Amino acid sequence: MTSARPDSRLAAPVAFITGAGRGIGRAVALRFAKAGYAVACFARSADEVEATVAAVTAAGGRGLALRGDVADEAQIEAAVARADSEFGGIDVLVNNAGLFRVRPLEELDTATWRALLETNLSGPFFATRAVVRAMKARGRGRAIVNVSSEAGKTGFAGSTGYCATKYGLCGFGDALREELRGRGIAVLNVLPGQVDTRAWDDCGLDLARVGIRRERMMRPEAVADAIVHAVLAEGAVAEELLLKPL
Ligand SMILES: NC(=O)c1ccc[n+]([C@@H]2O[C@H](COP(=O)([O-])OP(=O)(O)OC[C@H]3O[C@@H](n4cnc5c(N)ncnc54)[C@H](OP(=O)(O)O)[C@@H]3O)[C@@H](O)[C@H]2O)c1
Repeated sequence: MTSARPDSRLAAPVAFITGAGRGIGRAVALRFAKAGYAVACFARSADEVEATVAAVTAAGGRGLALRGDVADEAQIEAAVARADSEFGGIDVLVNNAGLFRVRPLEELDTATWRALLETNLSGPFFATRAVVRAMKARGRGRAIVNVSSEAGKTGFAGSTGYCATKYGLCGFGDALREELRGRGIAVLNVLPGQVDTRAWDDCGLDLARVGIRRERMMRPEAVADAIVHAVLAEGAVAEELLLKPL
C-alpha cells in the first residue's frame, strides 16, 4: 500500500504494539522507536505502558501510552482510533499481548480456557480488524505482526489451551496474508522459543522442577531486534520467523 501521508518526508512511521508494558512488547516498542517509528503502546497496566513511553521519550523518540484490554472490543478499537488520529496513521501493528498458562487438560478450568482464547485470539482479531480498516481508509500500511510462539507449531504437554490459541493465531495470520496479498501490507507470524520474561513467573510451572533454566532463554531485546529487522527489510518479505536461542 503506498503512502498517502501529505508530509511523509517529515512524519515518522507509526507502530501500534499491544502488550507493550513489559517483556517482548516493551522491547519491540523501544526497538521500533530506535528505528525512527512513533510508537503507540497498549496494555492494561497504565503504569507499565507509561514507563515504556517514558523510556521511548528519554531515548529521543515519540510514544503514546494507551490503557486497555485487548479482549475488550470497544477498548482496543478506541485505542487504535486514538493512535491513528494522534499519529496520522498506523504502519505496523504488533499483536503481542498474550496469556501463558500451563496445566494438564483435566486441571484446565473453563475460565482459564476462555481467558486464553479471548486474550490470544479475540484480542488479535479485534486489533487487526481495527488497524486494517484504518490502513485501508488512509491508503497506507506496512505490516501486521503476530507474536505467536514455538507452541504455535509444536505441541507441548500441559499447553493444550495455549497451543490451541497460538496455532490458531498462525492460521489467522496465514489467511490474512492471502487476503492482503498485493496490497503492500505484509503479515508476519513470529514463533519465539523461550524468552526470559515475567510470563514464566505467572504461568503455573515450577521451572526448577521441570529443568527449565532462565539463563538459557532468549532476551526480549533479541526477539525485538529480529522482528524489527524482518519488518524493515526491503525487497523481500518474511512471512514466518521461528526464533531460538543461539
Ligand atoms: N516469554 C516467552 O517465553 C514467550 C515465548 C513465545 C511467545 N511468547 C509470546 O510473547 C508475547 C509477550 O509475552 P511476554 O513473555 O513478553 O509476556 P509478559 O512479560 O507477561 O508481557 C505481556 C504483556 O502483555 C500485556 N497483556 C496481557 N494480557 C493483556 C490484555 N488482555 N490486554 C492488553 N494487554 C495485555 C501485559 O500487560 P498487562 O498485564 O498490564 O495488560 C504485558 O504488557 C505473548 O503473546 C506470549 O504468548 C512469549
